[in-house]
Amino acid sequence: MKQLVFDFNNMFSFSIGKAHGVTDSDLAGMRTLVKKSHFHLSSVLSDKQSRINLSLEWANLPYQDAGFIAKIQKLGDQIASRYENVISLGIGGSYLGLKAAQDALCSPYYNEFSPARKARSRVYFEGNNLDPETLSVLLKNLDPEKTFVIVISKSGETTETKAAFTVVEQWMKKSLGKHYGRQIFAITDPVSGSMRKKVDAANAADPLSFRSMPLLPGVGGRYSELNMGLLHLAIVGVRIKDVMAGARAMRVRCSRADVLKNPAYMYALLQTIQYLKKGKPISILMPFSEQLKSTADWYCQLLAESTGKKYSRLIKKDSQGRELWLQDKDLVVNVGRTPVPSRGTNDLHSIQQNNIEGENDKVVTFIRVKEFKNDISIPGSGDLLSGKKYGRLLSLAQEATEWALVRQERPNCAIIMPEISAHAWGQLIFFFEMATAFEGELLNINAFDQPGVEGYKNYMYYKLGKPGLPRQVAQDIKDNPMVKKSWCIM
Ligand code: PA5
Repeated sequence: MKQLVFDFNNMFSFSIGKAHGVTDSDLAGMRTLVKKSHFHLSSVLSDKQSRINLSLEWANLPYQDAGFIAKIQKLGDQIASRYENVISLGIGGSYLGLKAAQDALCSPYYNEFSPARKARSRVYFEGNNLDPETLSVLLKNLDPEKTFVIVISKSGETTETKAAFTVVEQWMKKSLGKHYGRQIFAITDPVSGSMRKKVDAANAADPLSFRSMPLLPGVGGRYSELNMGLLHLAIVGVRIKDVMAGARAMRVRCSRADVLKNPAYMYALLQTIQYLKKGKPISILMPFSEQLKSTADWYCQLLAESTGKKYSRLIKKDSQGRELWLQDKDLVVNVGRTPVPSRGTNDLHSIQQNNIEGENDKVVTFIRVKEFKNDISIPGSGDLLSGKKYGRLLSLAQEATEWALVRQERPNCAIIMPEISAHAWGQLIFFFEMATAFEGELLNINAFDQPGVEGYKNYMYYKLGKPGLPRQVAQDIKDNPMVKKSWCIM
C-alpha cells in the first residue's frame, strides 16, 4: 500500500535561515527529551492498565476484532439501504471525526446526488451547536418515517447533544408512535451517564429499541473516530477495514524510537522546536484539497484540546502500580500551539498574505494529495491554462506557496498523501493522533483531558440550575459574577 510521506525540509535553517529554521544544535538540545518521551509513551502504551486509565486506548483501536468490524459494516449497509436520511447528533470528538471522514472519503456533494452516494442514506450532522436555525429547518424538511438517528455522546450529558436529541426524539415519537426507538442508535459510555440509563431502560422494554454500541473504556472523545465513527463510516459506504489497515500501517511507523524513521515524532519535535525556540505559536494546517478541509478542523480540535494546558503534568503511581497523571498546581505553563484550519487554494486569496508578510510567528503545514480520482483537463487551446489538469495546477499552487514562504524565511512542512482513500486517510488520522500524544510528552502535559472546557459548562449548568454541581464550583461562580459597566455603543 502507498505510504504517507512527511516532507520537513523547510523547517530547517539550511532552507529558511538560522533565525527561523531549526538548527543542528536545536535538535541536539532535544535529544535527551525525545528519548525520554519515546520511552515513557511506549511504556504507557504497552501497559494495558495504565493505557486505559490514562485514556490512551485509542492507540489500539486499529486492532479491533475483524468479526466486530464486519458486523458494523453490515449494520451500516442495512441502515443505508432502508433509510433515506440519517441524522448524526454529537459535538467535539463526537462529531468532528465523522464529518472529516464523510467529507474526505465520500463523493463531494454526497447528500445532493443519489448516484454519487450509490443511493445510500443522506447524512446530516446536528447537535454540534445551539443555533436553532439548522435543526428546525432540517426537521421541517425530513420525514421521520424515512429517517434514522445516531446519537453520540460519551458522557451523555453534553448540552448541545442532549438538547438536540430531546427535540429529535420528540419529533420522532410524535409521528412514529411507541416504536420510534427502533430508528435510534446510541453510542455512549457502557456504564454511566443519562444516555446509558435511557438506552438500558428502552432496551428492557423493547430490545429492538435504542440499539447501542459502547464507547470503549480508555478512549477519549477526540481520539475516538475509529470507535464511535465506525457505524457512520459503514452507513456512508466506507470500507472500515481499509481505514483500519491504514491506521495500523501508521502505528507501526510511529512506534519506532528513531525520530528519523518516525513521521509523527519528527512532526511533533519540529513543531515543538519552532514553537518554543523560534517564537512560532501559530500552527496553520492547510490541505490543498477541498475534501480534507474538515480533517483540518478535526486536527485543530485534537491539537487545541490536547495540548492547550495551564498546568504541567505530575506523574505518580497508584497503589496498583498504574500511572496517574495529575495537574501540577505549582507549575503553571499555559502552553499549546494555536491551530488554525485553512485550505488551499482558497486561502491563498485570504490569510496567505498574512502568512507571508505578517508576523513571522507561524508554521504552515500543507497536506498535498498526489493523485485525484476525478481530474479535469481544462479545455481549449492558446490559453495558458488550456490542456492543463486541475490536479497539476493544484500541486503547482502548493509548490508555489511553499517557495514563497521559504523566500520569506517562513517555516513550513508538507504531509504528502498518495491519494484520498480510506487507507491513506486511516494513516493520516493515526499520524496526527500519535504526533499529538508525542507533543504532549515533549511539553510534559496531559494530552488526554480537557479541564478548561469545564468552565463554560459549569457556568451554564449553574445558571440553568442543574442539581449536583459541586459546591465549590457553584460558590466560585456566585462569588465571581461577570461585571460589566455600560461600555456598549447603542
Ligand atoms: O475530546 C473530547 O473529549 C470532547 O471534545 C468531547 O468529545 C465533547 O465534549 C463531547 O463530549 P460527549 O461525547 O461526552 O458528548
